[in-house]
Amino acid sequence: MRIAVFGADGYLGFPLSLCLLGRGHEVIAVDNGVTARRAACTGAPSVPADPGPLEQRLGGTGATVVEADVRDQERVRQLLQDVDVVVHLAQQRSAPYSMLSPEHALETVSDNLDSTMAVLFACRETGTRLVKLGSMGEYGTPSVPIPEGEWTLELGGRTARLWFPRSPGSFYHASKVCDSVYLRFACQCYGLTCIDVQQGPVVGVNTAELRERNACTRVYYDDVWGTVVHRFCAQASAGHPLTVYGRGGQTRGFLSLADSTWATATACEQIMDLPAGAYMEINQIAWTRSVRQLAEEVAALARERGCPAALSHVPNPREGCELEEHFYEVEAAVLRNWGLVAEQPQQVLGETLDYMLAHSRELRASVLAPRHTFRDGGDTCRDGHG
Ligand SMILES: NC(=O)c1ccc[n+]([C@@H]2O[C@H](COP(=O)([O-])OP(=O)(O)OC[C@H]3O[C@@H](n4cnc5c(N)ncnc54)[C@H](O)[C@@H]3O)[C@@H](O)[C@H]2O)c1
Repeated sequence: MRIAVFGADGYLGFPLSLCLLGRGHEVIAVDNGVTARRAACTGAPSVPADPGPLEQRLGGTGATVVEADVRDQERVRQLLQDVDVVVHLAQQRSAPYSMLSPEHALETVSDNLDSTMAVLFACRETGTRLVKLGSMGEYGTPSVPIPEGEWTLELGGRTARLWFPRSPGSFYHASKVCDSVYLRFACQCYGLTCIDVQQGPVVGVNTAELRERNACTRVYYDDVWGTVVHRFCAQASAGHPLTVYGRGGQTRGFLSLADSTWATATACEQIMDLPAGAYMEINQIAWTRSVRQLAEEVAALARERGCPAALSHVPNPREGCELEEHFYEVEAAVLRNWGLVAEQPQQVLGETLDYMLAHSRELRASVLAPRHTFRDGGDTCRDGHG
């Protein structure tokens, strides 16, 4: 198949492109480099700091690399001519970034809306099927299990199949809720075919294809761009206390980079079997952990490697926007039915820690501790966002 990967230079997009190529698909890899610019603006380098131009990193694979902004409707229409499936990853994807200031909130919701609309209308015209990356954070943390797709409500003696209620915890997550609303409607109204992947935080640095090419993806470890495990592993590697936000009972569903790549590539293949007009939601997680548990597990692995890692409970920068202790259960049957054999947390955490230890000299000390709060934002990058 011909598959376009929008956001191919990102943490997920690069390994996904390699995986799709490995499965024999033709890949059009599209990016405009904006995440790296935004991260630089907040003083946060990735590890490695500069993995090199995408064209070079995909050299010899046969992929077509295109520099383009996927908010540009006309450009996206051109790019999707004769493309079977597009995977849309190209968005502002940091919840803390969306909370830095009114400008960052607006940038997030407007950029994410613009790109989704451009992709949606191009798919309507070209017949391209869409795999869209949403977030489990759309649902928040309800005190009941989160179903996969629609659920049944009984009220007034009647039943209805409805969407499960959304409760986003940042403007970023709210933008993902809007995406889901627009995509579901477009499937119903225009006959678009879409898999909306509600994905938990992804953990890790490796996939089979990255190992094979001795290549790296962009991994961030600061409070704006780094997800929790990557932050903990970097902190442990640099001898910094592992900063647990508040009580640390915040529980989420995680999955490894290799599992995320496998699942998204599989979604690209499975979508071809769906009837036109289908809107399918899947929950992409493999295991759940609280933040406190993760910190304890990373600290134990660090101690095994001779690093004296300690935990520090810090005032929660997301206070008021998330619960610190709560019930959390997610239905994720589709991935199991597709045959995912998930990598185990111990293995993924150990591999990520080893990666950060190997790069410990590159880690920037000034971004290891939390710098911003959701309520007050921060003045990082106020004048240069985007
Ligand atoms: N990484 C995770 O843990 C995770 C979890 C849930 C959902 N997701 C979603 O998956 C997607 C990819 O996440 P990621 O972690 O790889 O993020 P990322 O920021 O590393 O990758 C996104 C890529 O898209 C590019 N991009 C952004 N806007 C663009 C535009 N207008 N035009 C062209 N390119 C553009 C960026 O330069 C970047 O390379 C995002 O939509 C994110 O919300 C990620």
